[in-house]
Amino acid sequence: MSHATGREEEWLQQRLKRHRNPTGTFEVQRPGGIWLQISEQRLEDDGILIVGTDITELKRTQEKLRDVGTELERQVAIRTRELTDEIAVRKNTETKLRTAMLQAEQANQAKSEFLSTMSHELRTPLTSSLGGLILLKNLMSDEFTDEGRNLVDMVLRNNETLLRLVNELLDYDKFLSGTLIIETRSNDITELTSAAVKNLQGYAQTQAVNILWDGNAPPLYAQVQEHRFEQVLNNLLSNAVKFSDPGADVEIFIKKEMGLVIVSVKDKGPGIPESFKAQIFKQFTQADSSSTRKYGGTGLGLAISKVLTESMGGTINFDTEIGVGSTFHVSFPAC
Ligand SMILES: Nc1ncnc2c1ncn2[C@@H]1O[C@H](COP(=O)(O)OP(=O)(O)OP(=O)(O)O)[C@@H](O)[C@H]1O
Ligand SMILES: [Mg+2]
Repeated sequence: MSHATGREEEWLQQRLKRHRNPTGTFEVQRPGGIWLQISEQRLEDDGILIVGTDITELKRTQEKLRDVGTELERQVAIRTRELTDEIAVRKNTETKLRTAMLQAEQANQAKSEFLSTMSHELRTPLTSSLGGLILLKNLMSDEFTDEGRNLVDMVLRNNETLLRLVNELLDYDKFLSGTLIIETRSNDITELTSAAVKNLQGYAQTQAVNILWDGNAPPLYAQVQEHRFEQVLNNLLSNAVKFSDPGADVEIFIKKEMGLVIVSVKDKGPGIPESFKAQIFKQFTQADSSSTRKYGGTGLGLAISKVLTESMGGTINFDTEIGVGSTFHVSFPAC
């Protein structure tokens, strides 16, 4: 017996004991890897019935099953380890993301506070020097030489531009923090447009651009906040003038269509490149942002115009063709 090799005496004793007192079934392995199940039973005449069944196949199948089981356990252990690692990595990434978000929120908050404080700090001296300059110009205009008047006008214009920028920064910051509240009421859009055109005439003259607007157009009413509407139109008009060549016309149209009052500002400027169209209403974006750019500005006018228009329930969009010009439209619900 192969499995008894080396301990033959012991095996022989066990076998004799079992034979004298048959207890049922047991398994033995024969040379050549053959497995037998031996079943012994004592008969009534004291004889012994021995039945041997070849269970080699069964044993092989059991062995294979055991191997498969071991392999499965191994695979499960590997996958469990992988999953544990993955969960640890994911948790780590989540923690890092949460920290980064917190830091970004804090930075944004700090930026907002800085912007707000700086804008307020700048606004006070700017407003007072603007008032002083206007007084000086009115009181002493007779005593100025042409050169002196030009200088005062130039300082006045720059002061106004700075004040506008500071105010726009404040507005934009209010919009970002959700505190920009605009209360609208029914207003004559024709009248407000006339006021905006009047405000921009001075700038148009310095650029030698003609603003064409029918001041006698009939009144058309829409739901807006007057100052904010003028601000939007002022931004559209100043762009149209800025991007026009000297001698060119800028036209303004107003109409009521499908329950909306629509104001359009049309210029014959360079047009807006296809690649820039999607960016145009984002803050601080300009088609030409190079340091050698031809036109001034900060790239905030259209961003703030969109915010203001939409806060009043309106929409803003444009048509444009390179080398032909651009037309910006703002529309508000008629009433
Ligand atoms: N009428 C227009 N014709 C051609 N390009 C325009 C016109 N209006 C706007 N743009 C393009 O869109 C950009 C963004 O306009 P936006 O009014 O926001 O900023 P800006 O005029 O450059 O600066 P700001 O208005 O803050 O003084 C402009 O710099 C220009 O490239
Ligand atoms: Mg502008």
